[in-house]
Amino acid sequence: MKQIKIKGGNILSGDINISGAKNSAVALIPASLLSDEEVRIDNIPNISDIDALNEILEYLGASVKRDGSLMIIDSHNIKNKKIPESISKKLRASYYFMSALLGKYKRVEMYFPGGCSIGTRPIDQTLKTFRALGATVIEDGNKYTITADKLVGTTIQLDMPSVGATVNTLLVAVRAEGETILKNAAKEPEIVSVATFLNQMGAKIVGAGTSEIRIEGVDYLGSCFTEVIPDRIEAGTYLIAGALIGKDLTIRNMIPEHISSLTSKLKEMGCKLKIGKDYITISKSDNLTPVKIKTLGYPGFPTDLQQPITTLLTQVNGTSILEETIYENRFQNVPYLNQMGSNIEIKERTIKIKGPTKLVGATVEATDLRAGACLVLAGLVAEGETTVTEIKHVLRGYENIIEKLQNVGAKIELEEI
Ligand code: EPZ
Repeated sequence: MKQIKIKGGNILSGDINISGAKNSAVALIPASLLSDEEVRIDNIPNISDIDALNEILEYLGASVKRDGSLMIIDSHNIKNKKIPESISKKLRASYYFMSALLGKYKRVEMYFPGGCSIGTRPIDQTLKTFRALGATVIEDGNKYTITADKLVGTTIQLDMPSVGATVNTLLVAVRAEGETILKNAAKEPEIVSVATFLNQMGAKIVGAGTSEIRIEGVDYLGSCFTEVIPDRIEAGTYLIAGALIGKDLTIRNMIPEHISSLTSKLKEMGCKLKIGKDYITISKSDNLTPVKIKTLGYPGFPTDLQQPITTLLTQVNGTSILEETIYENRFQNVPYLNQMGSNIEIKERTIKIKGPTKLVGATVEATDLRAGACLVLAGLVAEGETTVTEIKHVLRGYENIIEKLQNVGAKIELEEI
């Protein structure tokens, strides 16, 4: 088992370079199956979620070549066979293969996807899309068999702006006959990146990034090259680290606009930020003021930064309120923060964080990816030594997190026990 040991209190200074976005890369890789030629994707982050997707690609018979952050995928002779549960349950994004294979072959057999245990995470909106486009979905326990004589474009209204259902609709509708209009679509930058990638292959998608996306089905998708956008959640996590204990900490290779909800909240708290074209410099400020935060779909405050910013809220002078509207079980970091000395109360989907509280190092567990990030941030500011166990959850979503933090002065080590 892997764990991280951190000696708290070291000021973080210097540059952190942001990697390609996990939540874009994990959609682009399955989307590449839709091409009948070779596609090239650069700036792929080196994280375990990508390895799991590669396993599926190779299981299906695609050729995958990697050269650093460049991935070259050729799916022209893949076999459309059932993807075993052991692979599909490794991550949430495995179900993007469900829609890519349905779009390409009009048939797919797959299991319910995995992902962080932060809620029930149903896929009903995706299945609703498949059915609307003409597919038959047979559910047998965790297994789905989805077939269609033909896929015909139509108008679909999502019940909520689901990121996954929006991506899945793109992956099926690009090969359907006629036009699909998707209403109440999610607007995350990762969705724009998938639409751009598909359009480079020859798809006809307009409106990605807005709540209404129009997709004109095409018969053929060819080769293309794309570069994964910077990871806005990784950037936000390190920006929060800078607010906690930075001195001229610069987060580079990022798109500040993608986390404007975070930067405006940090400014509201009293943080001083220098925002450039593709970087942000931040230093720890004293006397931060409490705020109210409500997680929403993009461009609202991202649920994936809810747990990381909770650590910062334990250090401000007063009581902050944070409401998590997306997931029903995304406060598993709170008991561990309280064990380290914070004063946080949970009431249904809202937490009340009383600050400032002194955090003292302890042995805590990463229950999920962003809870783990929250606890690493806590360890950076806590007095003494913090051990974060089950760190595999964090390594899934943060490329080279140990080295990136060591390079700016953190006393942090990865341990294998
Ligand atoms: C994506 O998950 C991200 N994962 C999540 O990031 C992120 O938290 C989430 O979008 C919201 O931004 C990837 O991109 C791989 P959803 P996804 O479909 O697609 C309800 C991380 O930390 N819902 O928008 O699963 C349900 O309550 C991960 O990087 C339905 O009811 O998000 C769900 O919890 C965690 N039915 C909520 O919407 C559906 O069919 C959000 O789901 C779909 C969703």
